[in-house]
Amino acid sequence: MCGIVGYIGPKACAPILLEGLRKLEYRGYDSAGLAVHDGKHIEVVRAVGKLGNLSDALDKHPMKGTLGIGHTRWATHGRPNEVNAHPHVAGGVAVVHNGIIENHLALRHDLEQQGVKFLSDTDTEIVAHLIDRARRTSKLELFDAVRRALQQVQGAYAIAVICETAPDTIVVAKSASPLVIGFGQGEVLCGSDIPALLAHTRDMIFLEDGELAELRPDKVRIETLEGKPVDRPAKRIDWSPVMAERGGFKHFMLKEIHEQPRAVEDTLRGRINLTGGDIHGTEIGLPPEFARDTGRVYFVACGTSHHATIAGRYWIEQLARIPAVVELASEVRCRDPVFTPNDLVVAVSQSGETADTLAAVRAAKAQGAKVLAIANVLDSAIPRVADAALYTHAGPEIGVASTKCFTTQLAALLMLAVYLGRRRGTLDETRARDVLQALVEVPNHMRHVLAQAPYLLGIAKRIVHAPDVLFLGRGLGFPIALEGALKLKEISYIHAEGYAAGEMKHGPIALIDESTPVVVVCPKDALYDKVLSNVQEVRAREGRVFAVATNGDSVIADLAEHLFLIPEVRDEVLPLLTVLPLQLLAYHVADLKGTDIDQPRNLAKTVTVE
Ligand code: AGP
Repeated sequence: MCGIVGYIGPKACAPILLEGLRKLEYRGYDSAGLAVHDGKHIEVVRAVGKLGNLSDALDKHPMKGTLGIGHTRWATHGRPNEVNAHPHVAGGVAVVHNGIIENHLALRHDLEQQGVKFLSDTDTEIVAHLIDRARRTSKLELFDAVRRALQQVQGAYAIAVICETAPDTIVVAKSASPLVIGFGQGEVLCGSDIPALLAHTRDMIFLEDGELAELRPDKVRIETLEGKPVDRPAKRIDWSPVMAERGGFKHFMLKEIHEQPRAVEDTLRGRINLTGGDIHGTEIGLPPEFARDTGRVYFVACGTSHHATIAGRYWIEQLARIPAVVELASEVRCRDPVFTPNDLVVAVSQSGETADTLAAVRAAKAQGAKVLAIANVLDSAIPRVADAALYTHAGPEIGVASTKCFTTQLAALLMLAVYLGRRRGTLDETRARDVLQALVEVPNHMRHVLAQAPYLLGIAKRIVHAPDVLFLGRGLGFPIALEGALKLKEISYIHAEGYAAGEMKHGPIALIDESTPVVVVCPKDALYDKVLSNVQEVRAREGRVFAVATNGDSVIADLAEHLFLIPEVRDEVLPLLTVLPLQLLAYHVADLKGTDIDQPRNLAKTVTVE
């Protein structure tokens, strides 16, 4: 996830672009840059790190001009350094991009065959070259050259493009990533999100997928990629600036909960071969022979990432039939564990910097194990130390309580299990295709589940005064019970425990009475009957049951005080849906209590201490 901005009008654009990028820094902040047309040439200034560094670079190197584009980056392809920072230039064309070009490897290969020399490792530079070539070889105007280039591109993009020979035009286009156009007095702006434009205008048009627009100071032309004109009136936006930074949501956590369909889509994009029922090996980064011969998968992680690894273990065992172990990274450091060169250690960490996980990785590597990192932050410490990295594409997560990083970790782990299962011959093409089909359908199911979010407020009101809450689940529901409890305690400060439902009778059952809310993850999966028995045990002791259940389940409806329903999906993908109501429940309980949801007490987003 990155932020892009553009300005064309009568004013000096560099300060306006920089200010716009400040409002988008929540989308990424590992490098930034501007491209400004001074009437004759395009000048580019880029800097690694937060926007302050770009601002310092602009002090040393002021940019003149009233037309320009800017970018703040969250690296997905290529390390976060100055060479990979946007804008990217090819010939006289400069491009900023938010998204992921799915077919970048094939396009890059083709362009290299035609003699193009790439300067960066990014997928975006390919787009700049495609536009430049369309413009020069087919003598196309910028608008048509962008259209021609995008016809070759698959994936997600919002782009803004300027060109040396078009000193009065910005061309923008969108597919899957957001792009807003704003109308000021004799000026037009564009950006990834409303806040970037709000200081200048409240009159905005939201570009739709498959559309491109030509921006000039006095007019905007919008067409579809196929060349059909689009006539869409501007909307008046009525947001306060603070609301706008959170996209209209009260907290970043709530915004991030609602971003999960997009985050999972981005994490799956370009990695799944549905026809062949497989995962593209280049995306996993493990040599196929190692994947085939691995003797054991050993997961290390902390907190929410640890919960994701518990689901990962179930998937690896079920689909790849490899012995799998899950361990809290902090405990690995406390023992003298035995790793072998035949082990695949999978280290999962959204930040990629967690000290305990990093130490566990180092211990494993020291004994010759191969390490695969699953991380959200490109080029962070854990993927750098690992032998291979599989990145989640959740974008920056600002809320300390992890939500979208968790579901993208689940998506990455399920892809890993399919990849290993296919290499080892334990997963046939038909079952793999069915699992992957279910996985690609998850974002749409998530959208339906999230659309019922306000209903959770009613349930939250019934839990907010409870001193303790118990969460139960079995199989793939167990890590979700743990995660639901962690979310609730992290942000509402209510004591909550997650248990494997089968363990209840070995102790926690003593806690159950008419005042204890018990949240049960009880979808209609292979373990449904067993979980239902646990629900009955709770009811027999007057416990109050709140269940996450499958649409149409009338049996649980009679037992539970409250239900939250999810659609019927394959068992393997259930955790990506069952966790959503629990995240929302924690959020609403905390909001009712008035806690500091995005920065709960005593916690930190990245834990770099032992
Ligand atoms: C999640 O809500 C927590 N903030 C925390 O448990 C977190 O998952 C843990 O610190 C691990 O972080 P990592 O994924 O960045 O390694």
